[in-house]
Amino acid sequence: MIRVGVAGAAGRMGQTVCSAVAEAPDMELVGRADPLLDLTLAQMLAQCSPEVVVDFTRPDTALANALECLRAGVHVVIGTTGFDVEALAEQARTIATTQGDTPANVLLAPNFAIGAVLMMRFAAEAAKHMAKAEIVELHHDGKLDAPSGTAARTAKLMAHASGGEPPPIHSVRLPGLVANQEVILGDVGQTLTIRHDTSGRESFMPGVLIAIRGVRTLERSPTVGLEQLLFQAR
Ligand SMILES: NC(=O)c1ccc[n+]([C@@H]2O[C@H](COP(=O)([O-])OP(=O)(O)OC[C@H]3O[C@@H](n4cnc5c(N)ncnc54)[C@H](O)[C@@H]3O)[C@@H](O)[C@H]2O)c1
Repeated sequence: MIRVGVAGAAGRMGQTVCSAVAEAPDMELVGRADPLLDLTLAQMLAQCSPEVVVDFTRPDTALANALECLRAGVHVVIGTTGFDVEALAEQARTIATTQGDTPANVLLAPNFAIGAVLMMRFAAEAAKHMAKAEIVELHHDGKLDAPSGTAARTAKLMAHASGGEPPPIHSVRLPGLVANQEVILGDVGQTLTIRHDTSGRESFMPGVLIAIRGVRTLERSPTVGLEQLLFQAR
């Protein structure tokens, strides 16, 4: 059984993660940290001894939370978006050098929905062959960051694949939406649209469970994106 703690456990994503972990046959939900539940991450780490912490909190807390877990030797899976990933990578490597042969790992993914991971992969492939592209991302109006982490990563992957500039991103925030993204590629006389729609937060859970199972075995840390675990598993 993998002992799992959840940071941001009272939030929209955190509650869904708690249910998914509690229902997984190979996992035990050992702690739920959230200011709204009167349990801090530090208290959860000390009292509940998780092996893996899953963080779905806020852009302004995710970095400090992740570093706190790594210093405690606890693997961390981050779903929170909109924070400084470069700073995390740098500080995580410094912490790892103090932890001997088996340092704790960190995996962060801007989108755990498997369809969204495939959308990013297909968009990167298409970017090699089409002249121009733009990204439209649409999310619920409670989302704190814009552009979304998924859109930013899609743009980065497309630029890397095509050798060109990252495509422009348009952000829409409206009640009634969960998470949707369209990548529109244009060339002479044709367009190609790759679209992913999330209609419920359960869509992220298979990916989160894959990350919890795989974070301990990562060859490289931090690892960004679910791709490495997803495509090596198939
Ligand atoms: N990677 C993905 O697949 C994915 C999918 C959906 C959302 N997200 C991201 O997940 C994050 C959370 O989204 P949400 O809609 O659940 O937000 P939310 O506001 O509903 O929940 C955030 C929770 O974090 C708690 N919190 C704040 N500071 C904390 C701290 N220091 N320690 C522990 N808990 C703390 C809050 O009290 C709140 O309950 C956002 O950054 C969002 O963009 C990622």
